Amino acid sequence: MMTLANGPLKARVLRCQGQRSGQKNHGDNGPCRDQTSLGGCGRLTTRFHNRSGKFNTNVLMLSELVNQSKPLKPDARVLVLGGGYSGGHVARLLRTLGTAVRCSRRSLNVPDADLVFDSTTGQIPMLNDLDGITHVLSTIPPTTEGQDPVLTQLGSQLRGQSLTWIGYLSTTGVYGDRQGRWVSEDDPAHPSQPRSQRRYACEQDWLDSGLPVQILRLPGIYGPGRSVLNSLRAGKARRILKNNQVFCRIHVDDIAGACLHLMHRAADGPGPTIVNVSDNCPAAPQDLIQYGAGLLNCELPDEEPFEQASPSMSAMARSFWSENRRVRNTLLCRQLGYSLLHPDFKAGLQDCFRQETQSPY
Ligand SMILES: NC(=O)c1ccc[n+]([C@@H]2O[C@H](COP(=O)([O-])OP(=O)(O)OC[C@H]3O[C@@H](n4cnc5c(N)ncnc54)[C@H](OP(=O)(O)O)[C@@H]3O)[C@@H](O)[C@H]2O)c1
Repeated sequence: MMTLANGPLKARVLRCQGQRSGQKNHGDNGPCRDQTSLGGCGRLTTRFHNRSGKFNTNVLMLSELVNQSKPLKPDARVLVLGGGYSGGHVARLLRTLGTAVRCSRRSLNVPDADLVFDSTTGQIPMLNDLDGITHVLSTIPPTTEGQDPVLTQLGSQLRGQSLTWIGYLSTTGVYGDRQGRWVSEDDPAHPSQPRSQRRYACEQDWLDSGLPVQILRLPGIYGPGRSVLNSLRAGKARRILKNNQVFCRIHVDDIAGACLHLMHRAADGPGPTIVNVSDNCPAAPQDLIQYGAGLLNCELPDEEPFEQASPSMSAMARSFWSENRRVRNTLLCRQLGYSLLHPDFKAGLQDCFRQETQSPY
């Protein structure tokens, strides 16, 4: 038995209860539906070599994601710049589908590292690493000066390639505070936090770059190994209550699925330059804690009113709580036709629980 700071934690093993209904979920942030039935349990285990030749056996890919995905054309060559949490997931999906992928990290001794790119040391990929690439995904955040490391150091090399699509992972933080109102791609950005202002500056640089970029604006990213389940297990979850506060989020599977979907769409010509990639269900943070504790069958942390909790929060955490918005996904899910795998936090946390139970992160 594991223990939480404030009580015993008995991991309750959920049994898979058959396949999801098979209905496609076309998003549009309609009323959040209760997604309590578990999705299909079929898993595809894939093994990947990293540059050191070791297997990364901790890599499991839900067959549901793979099954819903169509491979790119055989001549596609994808470069993922920044194979961290999201970039690594995208690379693994593509590889599983048979696409040639090269993935950069700042060191070779980590999973998914095929080549080194580190803008702080000036280590950049060789020109022949870029040869023949057709698609690029950049997950690399802005520098502290608000410059984009990829554009600054690899922009001219990328311009020399015949690219169909570049995806740039940005943040919905560029919308700033909307006091809980809905916000879509048509609304002008109002970044108020310095980090969101830097991000917005990078978005503008990408849009001005002449490259075929599509900006994907993401809310909080979660998935196996990175969710309230992990903070609950570690005894670090806080049940902070603030009137009307919601946060939006996206499961890492849906980042990978949406990237692939947008790569396919790009084959038919340029699409919208900015796309929100968010699930259907903005939700109060305490609802996730409560649902997560139910999955883990552990005690709920004590309630803390925001005013009481605020002084002991990090500056970064306080800055997140100072903004409140609901991010629309109509463009991605209705107009561009992407079906969310995890339309809300309940479906997504069930998936995290299932994956972590089968393969501890
Ligand atoms: N976390 C969130 O909730 C959230 C929400 C919205 C948007 N975003 C943004 O979405 C993107 C993906 O998020 P994530 O959580 O998947 O990020 P992540 O795991 O931190 O991955 C970021 C990647 O960028 C690489 N990188 C960082 N600085 C670099 C530099 N100076 N030169 C070269 N490479 C560099 C990292 O290299 P290594 O692999 O060597 O570490 C890593 O591969 C990020 O830009 C993030 O800021 C995140």
